[in-house]
Amino acid sequence: MKRDYLKVSDLSKDEFLSLIERAIALKVGVDIAKCPLIGKSIGMIFEKPSTRTRVSFEVAIYQLGGHPIYLTPKELQLSRGETIKDTALVLSRYLDAIIIRTFSHKTLVEFAKWSTVPIINALTDEHHPCQALADMMTIFEKKGKLEGIKLAYVGDGNNVANSLIEASSLTGVRIHIATPQGCEPLNEVVKKAQSKTEVKIYNNPEDAVLDADVVYTDVWVSMGQEENIEKKSKFKKFQVNSNLLKKAKSDAIVMHCLPAYRGEEITTEVIDGPQSVVLDQAENRLHSAKAILEFLLTL
Ligand code: CP
Ligand code: NVA
Repeated sequence: MKRDYLKVSDLSKDEFLSLIERAIALKVGVDIAKCPLIGKSIGMIFEKPSTRTRVSFEVAIYQLGGHPIYLTPKELQLSRGETIKDTALVLSRYLDAIIIRTFSHKTLVEFAKWSTVPIINALTDEHHPCQALADMMTIFEKKGKLEGIKLAYVGDGNNVANSLIEASSLTGVRIHIATPQGCEPLNEVVKKAQSKTEVKIYNNPEDAVLDADVVYTDVWVSMGQEENIEKKSKFKKFQVNSNLLKKAKSDAIVMHCLPAYRGEEITTEVIDGPQSVVLDQAENRLHSAKAILEFLLTL
């Protein structure tokens, strides 16, 4: 039976923790000569721009011995109205896995329903599970543990927030979210996670950041919402700056999935400051991408 990685919650706790462990091993060079993807071709359908996800997956596939095929919808008959069903069924005859970045999560689920090869979510409007895996790997590397860590997420209750909540529920990270009213993460994701770990939602950043081990933020408006000026105006007091950071533990780390809008959700002083781990976090996208590919393609 093929497995997909559409949401963090597609994995069990043990699987998620072993992917973190495996990503760290691959980072330090364990099994570097093994090429588990030799002879395999992986499609990459991207309906939105990407720097980290696209390049880290292409490099990961190459380094594991496989062949990445980057596809934009304009280059596919999808753009002329071919159905997701036919596209997924046909591509499954050529490819060994498909990585997809799209808008609605429903589109991804529909693709996965018809595809007979594993589907990996490279970001939808609702979830960004590959990011959350690299994020938990980074927290583990920096803090030496995950269970009990307090993660303060300041910003929009978006795809990154939803996946961080699901990842927190698998790892025992306590997640405190500060977001304006009306921008909360998905209710079903919050409710489900609350049965496994501490998930709190505030409308005030100071409340979430108090004594945090990790302070995380993301853009105020995500890809596809750029025209929503009204939404942006709700976030004025949700900036991660040095004043806010003082409320966290003195050894707190600062995270951002990137790309960042300096001067909006985070100041240059903080993102370039000594507590920021954003470049290690971005690097970990490569190592964790390898762990995901290896897991799904060598089951
Ligand atoms: N963090 C992340 O997914 O970045 P890209 O949009 O550049 O892939
Ligand atoms: N929330 C952001 C994440 C980008 C990696 C977006 O969807 O645009």
